[in-house]
Amino acid sequence: MADPIVLAEGLHKSFGGTHALRGLDLSVPQGTVCGVLGPNGAGKTTAVRILATLSDPDAGHARIAGYDVVREADQVRARIGLAGQYAAVDEKLTGRGNLRMFGRLYHLSRREAHRRADELLERFGLMDAADRQVTGYSGGMRRRLDLITSLILRPEVLFLDEPTTGLDPRSRGEIWDSVRELVAEGTTVLLTTQYLDEADRLADDIAVIDHGQVVATGTPDELKATIGDHLDVVLEDPAALRPAAAVLNALTGTDPTMTGDDGLSVALPGGAFRLAGIVRELDRAGIAAADVRLRRPTLDEVFLRLTDRKENVA
Ligand SMILES: Nc1ncnc2c1ncn2[C@@H]1O[C@H](COP(=O)(O)OP(=O)(O)O)[C@@H](O)[C@H]1O
Ligand SMILES: [Mg+2]
Repeated sequence: MADPIVLAEGLHKSFGGTHALRGLDLSVPQGTVCGVLGPNGAGKTTAVRILATLSDPDAGHARIAGYDVVREADQVRARIGLAGQYAAVDEKLTGRGNLRMFGRLYHLSRREAHRRADELLERFGLMDAADRQVTGYSGGMRRRLDLITSLILRPEVLFLDEPTTGLDPRSRGEIWDSVRELVAEGTTVLLTTQYLDEADRLADDIAVIDHGQVVATGTPDELKATIGDHLDVVLEDPAALRPAAAVLNALTGTDPTMTGDDGLSVALPGGAFRLAGIVRELDRAGIAAADVRLRRPTLDEVFLRLTDRKENVA
């Protein structure tokens, strides 16, 4: 396989006593979307800032298109774009004004900056709002403007740090469409998100990170396969929830989560479990189950499991 266009090895970064990255590794093949999925505080922004040359790692190294993000930062900057959760556009300018201003900041000629601004506004559906002040833009429009601002120099690699956090479903869909279009043109995208469905829809590969480390990588399907089957139990009597939870915990070593008023769900470690054995154990404890079934975990469950944020039975 070709060399990865984004490569991070053993990145460490601390802020005072906070160890934000603890040996983070990432590898993204050219032309793909890598979804960096992690809860708040996992280290996503810290990682993106290092890859985008805005911050230096304490240890480890990273390369973009073969260029070291610390020693060859200029080469890296010439090849990347960055858009974040907090739009960096100027509120007082119009959409078109913002794009022209950034074009000039990036040393495009006046003519070139104007041409590129109109091209991007047209392509990403903001032409109608081009001459309105950004103050009057919706959250989604602002975020889209921020995104296209990062495209002025046609980056090879685009970093999107939680591009849809806080947006309504329609605006999220518009951002997703824009990302897909860029990828179709060959742009490599590294996107951070807290949303599983976003990673599932956009990413070729997902890196789940937690506490500054990658805890799992793979396609969405591979990730679902990394944890065993899930067991769902529906009880005949909700009063049996606690004893049933105790039986399932004894069998699996994990606290089940509640599903509705009379249901429990638990991940099974490995593949050594037989439905019949589980039913027998419940039976032995005098617990009547209306339904017991095995199924593949959802991506949500994989995420909660991998990031150790289980919701326990109270
Ligand atoms: N500039 C900073 N100063 C102090 N702590 C920071 C700073 N930036 C990040 N952190 C801490 O590092 C950890 C990772 O943060 P961050 O990379 O922003 O996570 P995420 O983007 O995944 O939410 C958090 O505990 C955060 O509080
Ligand atoms: Mg962040």
